[in-house]
Amino acid sequence: MGIVYLNDQLLPEEQAKIPVTDRGFLFGDGVYEVIPAYGGTLFRLDEHLNRLQNSLDGVRIRNPYSAAQWRQRLQQLLDANPNSQADYSIYLQITRGSTPRRDHAFPQDTHPTVFASATPIIKPSDETYAQGVSAITLEDTRWKQCHIKAITLLPNILLRQQAVDAGATEAILLKEGYLTEGAASNVFVVLNNEILTPPKSPELLPGITRDVVLELAQQQGVAHREVQISEQQLREASEIWLTSSTREILAVTQLDGLPIGDGKPGPHWSRIYSDYQVFKKQLRQHTAR
Ligand code: PDD
Repeated sequence: MGIVYLNDQLLPEEQAKIPVTDRGFLFGDGVYEVIPAYGGTLFRLDEHLNRLQNSLDGVRIRNPYSAAQWRQRLQQLLDANPNSQADYSIYLQITRGSTPRRDHAFPQDTHPTVFASATPIIKPSDETYAQGVSAITLEDTRWKQCHIKAITLLPNILLRQQAVDAGATEAILLKEGYLTEGAASNVFVVLNNEILTPPKSPELLPGITRDVVLELAQQQGVAHREVQISEQQLREASEIWLTSSTREILAVTQLDGLPIGDGKPGPHWSRIYSDYQVFKKQLRQHTAR
């Protein structure tokens, strides 16, 4: 069992307890982050902490720590776990805290609850990357503030489960005929040799992996654009990819039972996926020096 971080303490997971009156438990009143760490180095920590700040501001919870304090605490958490040089995923959650009386309105003088854990990353297998996965399209039934990484994930959970029940890996969401994102991922498409993804807006989470993919496309001089993508364009795409911190860049080779392109991950995916691996390796070498 791993070591976790709870309210300024590192302790074994089984000893980490929060009151049942915590607003995270009662209302889903909190926000979270998922931060990968490769070879002991936190990946794009500043960007994750910026997004965390935006989420906290969006729900009016005060950030209990400065960026330097977060860095120190998360590094300590990583170091406290066995084999900390392996690839880990840090889950970090802040709720509005515990409250003596259940009332929807914010309580006065409550301290946020801060929890973080580190678990080894289990990436999809090489075979899965080589074959790609299937996805289904569903109507995006979520709220209007999807840029906030809220722990209140019931719609995402129900959408993802609908995909799993249909034998698919992810639900790709459409709002009024336009692509937003996946139930737990951002979505890219390749159309006429151009890499496209919907622009940042309150309708989707500004993914950290998404930004890296756009940077890699820029560096490689590959045509790319942040633009609205219609359902028809999604269906006509020669490639579709899902991006997230834990799945990196995964090709969708079947959508609603129909093949995408020739039914195999495409050449643009191959290139960006391998660029991403090089990018990760360079990060390790850079920090090992
Ligand atoms: N989710 N969109 C949604 C709705 C997500 O839940 C995620 C990631 C992303 C991708 O963001 P990033 O590249 O920063 O991981 C987009 C995480 C991994 C999760 O909830 O576990």
